[in-house]
Order: sequence, then C-alpha cells, then structure tokens
Amino acid sequence: MREVEKVIKKLSQEIKEDIISWRRHIHMNPELSGQEFGTAKFVADLLREFGVDEVVENFGGTTAVVGLIKGKHSETVALRADMDALPMEEKTDKPYASKVPKVMHSCGHDAHTSILLGAAKILTTLKEYLQGNVKLIFQPCEERHDCDGAKKLVEAGVLENPKVSAIFGMHVFPDLPVGYVGTREGNFLAFSDIFRVKIKGKGTHAARPHQGIDPVLIASQVVNAMHHVVSRRVDPLEPAVLTIGKINGGFAENIIPDTVEIGGTVRAFDLELRKQFPVWIEDVVAGTTKAYGAGYEFQYEAGNPPVINDKRTTRFALSMMRQLLGDDKVVEIEKPSMGGEDFSEYLMKVPGTFIRLGVSNPEKGIKAPLHSPFFDIDEDALPIGSAVMSYLAYKWVEEFG
Ligand code: NI
Repeated sequence: MREVEKVIKKLSQEIKEDIISWRRHIHMNPELSGQEFGTAKFVADLLREFGVDEVVENFGGTTAVVGLIKGKHSETVALRADMDALPMEEKTDKPYASKVPKVMHSCGHDAHTSILLGAAKILTTLKEYLQGNVKLIFQPCEERHDCDGAKKLVEAGVLENPKVSAIFGMHVFPDLPVGYVGTREGNFLAFSDIFRVKIKGKGTHAARPHQGIDPVLIASQVVNAMHHVVSRRVDPLEPAVLTIGKINGGFAENIIPDTVEIGGTVRAFDLELRKQFPVWIEDVVAGTTKAYGAGYEFQYEAGNPPVINDKRTTRFALSMMRQLLGDDKVVEIEKPSMGGEDFSEYLMKVPGTFIRLGVSNPEKGIKAPLHSPFFDIDEDALPIGSAVMSYLAYKWVEEFG
C-alpha cells in the first residue's frame, strides 16, 4: 500500500476516542499483578470484535491474552503490552481515577494495553495489505518478580507457532513531552538482581563483647566492603551499581544480637558481570565474617535480564518512526537507565526494541513521575502510540516478509 504512514495516522486519529475510552475503563478498574482477569477479558472481547484471527486467553496458564493477525506470508512480528497495576492509592482528582482502593495504574500499563488495542484495530482494518503475521502479546505481571510475567510466556512458547522474528514494546515516559518518542540502540535498561545476607554471630551483653561475636560490627564492615565491589572489581567504563537498601538487626541498645540481615540490589548491563556479582559479593561476606569468627547465609536472586535493544530492529524503528512522525519528533536517547523491565525476557530470545512514548504536558499540569500517586498521561499520546506500534509491525513484515 502506498503512503501507508498517512493511512495509519488517519486511522489512529479516527479511533482516538475509542482508545481513550478503553484506557479510562482500564484505568478506573486496575488489577494487581497476576490478577488481571477483568482486563484480560476486556482485551480478548475487543480483539474478537476487531476480527483478530486467533485469540488465546489464559496463555501459558496465566492471565495473558495472545492474539494473532494473519498476513500473506509466514514472517511474524510481535507487539507487547503489559496489563498490571500497582498496590497504591491514586491521588489525582480525575473523573477517570481508579475506583479500586489502593490499586492504581501509576506505571501507565493501562495506556500500553489500550495502545496495543488501537494498533490491533488499525492492523485488522489493513489486514488485506498485511504481508506477514502480527502477534499481539498482552502480558500480565510486569511489576512483580515473583510471578514472572514475560518469563512464563516465553517458556510457554509465546515466541513460537508462528516463530517471531522481531518484537517491539513501548513504555510511557513522563520525561518526554507528548508528541515525542525515543529509543536507543544497545544498552537500554539494566538487569536488576537482589541479594540477601544473614550474618550469624553470637549474642551477649553489650558490656562483655569478648564473650560473643558481634554481628552489628561485622555487618558494618560487610556494608563497607560490598561498596568496593563495583569500585574495585568492575571496569570503571562499565555502568554498574550496587545498593544496600535494607539492614535489620538488634533489639536493645545494651544487647549484642545473634544475627543481622542485609539486603540489596545489583544492576548492570553486561551478562558476564551478572555471573561475577554473586561470586564477588559472597567473597566479601565469607571473608569478612571469617575474620571475626562469624557464620553467614547468602542468597542471590536473578531478576530481569538487561533490556538491550538490537541494532537492526532499533535502526529500523528509528527510521520508521521518523517517516511516521517527522525527524524532530524522534529522540535518540543519550544514556541508558539503571531501571529494569521484563521486556528483556523476550529480547533474550529474539531481537527487538523497547520504545519510550512521551506523555507529559506541563501546560496541562501533567508531569508527575511514574509510580507517583499523581501520575497521569496526556491522552493525545495514545493514538501516537497506536500509530507507531501498528506502523512498525506493518513495515517490518512488508520489508522482511
Ligand atoms: Ni511499567
């Protein structure tokens, strides 16, 4: 189809009010990670109404909905949205504010879901011109590590049958004004792992420390030494951060306790570093506790892998977004962020690109950060998001199908 960018932009504006109403419905009825039952039903019903060829609910035994729009050839591209909300009370006074106490879409996953619904509507409208398949992944549980949203879907084969050759995802980004989109090649979001340490000393009277083993003092040495892991072990040109966010122990000023517990997070991009961190951290704990005659327990839990945007899909996305929105609306983001996202689980298997969508509008008072109780978006961003996602999918299967 000629001038498809104009057609897609026009279609996205024609369905703008629909996308806004879907977003408001989801925003008013937020659901926590792993409990996206109503949202999933809402999504599945709409996909069927649009004429999406295959709609699978409860994919992989989760609340995910996976749709497939079939095109002429076997080339398949995937588009992903997440559906879960956060356990916090909304404090905006918007007419479409959350109706559920202590649950709020403060990370914009309501926008992601409605944007992908908009893209599905556009792509089904253009189905007769579509050169390949488009898989629509509505994913649960992005916000919590313990229910493994993306990981479970990947393990259940969401990128197979038909085999996906590229994937695109999008996240609202209040640091970018409405009208703009951005991304970058390579490192985009860090891996985020956590560790827990229990230092096992021996409790005693504060006045007779020689009769015990003081885990409070040892913990202070461990905290200190751990901060040298990044500064002395990691190449200074390689981004990495270690933060100890939690320390618990003791119950009285004049008693040396038996144990102290420490918890923290490690974030970086390099997968070799990811293998080294648990070893280095445990070395510090083992060596320090040994010096004082204490024992320890050590746990390291892998969180999300890093989001590393593939070179080819990212150059493709940047060039397509420039064609669609104009050069001045597309930002090449200068630096990666140490934040995390489970979109990385897909990127461990297939090349893809994560895109940031501008949603703030300080003139309208819309500028609160993600995860704020005042978070909101300028809804003018919604059709832009749908246009970008559908255009990327349409063009990908046209160029490579
Ligand atoms: Ni999010």
